[in-house]
Amino acid sequence: MPYTTLLTELENGIYIITINRPDKLNAINKQVMNDLNEVIDEVYNNNAIKSAIITGAGSKAFVAGADISEFLGLTKEEGFAVAKKGNDVFFKIENSPKPIVAAVNGFALGGGCELAMACHFRLCSENAKFGQPEVNLGLIPGYGGTQRLTQLVGKGKAMELMMSAVIIGADDALQLRLVNYVTTQEILLIKTKEILQLIQTKAPVAIAKIIECVNVAVVSDSSYNNGKNGFEKEQHAFGECFATEDMKEGAAAFIEKRKANFTGK
Ligand code: COA
Repeated sequence: MPYTTLLTELENGIYIITINRPDKLNAINKQVMNDLNEVIDEVYNNNAIKSAIITGAGSKAFVAGADISEFLGLTKEEGFAVAKKGNDVFFKIENSPKPIVAAVNGFALGGGCELAMACHFRLCSENAKFGQPEVNLGLIPGYGGTQRLTQLVGKGKAMELMMSAVIIGADDALQLRLVNYVTTQEILLIKTKEILQLIQTKAPVAIAKIIECVNVAVVSDSSYNNGKNGFEKEQHAFGECFATEDMKEGAAAFIEKRKANFTGK
């Protein structure tokens, strides 16, 4: 099915989904989110699709975040709605009965890191960069990042990464178990496909049940006892940031290509 912002290709049962806005470093705008929602429905419903890869167009970015230009002027309620929509789509990815793997080929920042973390596991190329830099905008992660980063790298490192907005490279991501493998850019898709080809030789119902069970294990292991509450808390907190002067200043500073001046209001 043709999409405005995605390229798709089915190869030996593997659906390769490429986010295609390279001039904006594949930032997730409303259209990308809608297209992702539909393409994941396709993964669920098309019997020819056995597994999927999500990657980014070009050699610079996987996804450099949510599209900041769409954040200007949003109210608290609209901010919450943005987070809710993103969470719904990313839950659909996380709960897909067919494996969905991220091939991170460059910047995976903000919503890009969150998209990669919603996938069942991740590979990346040597030039990949990961981070949750929302605090630079007076914001917090809003697509499940406060929950999934904590699950993947542990509470202390997740706190540090989100509070400092530090961007880490591929080797650090590997050491933190944010990714399973680091490859050259040339090999990234080849290696990802190899792993999925192996998985596709196994029993599909058993694979779907592994996904279900691992997701339950991760949720019940979270420090919130009920991970769902943590995700809901994040959506509300994300929305509340839109009622602050700092968020307006942070988003405007990014668009105007200058440093933000935060006042705590
Ligand atoms: N939203 C909207 N546009 C974005 C974007 C985002 N998240 N990330 C990059 N872009 C756009 C830039 O505005 C620029 O557009 P322009 O050419 O029309 O000015 C284009 O993509 C290229 O980005 P640029 O910043 O010029 O590239 P760079 O190599 O100098 O820097 C980054 C790369 C990733 C460090 C920088 O783009 C960045 O910090 N992006 C935002 C990351 C972020 O905060 N993500 C979380 C959002 S919630």
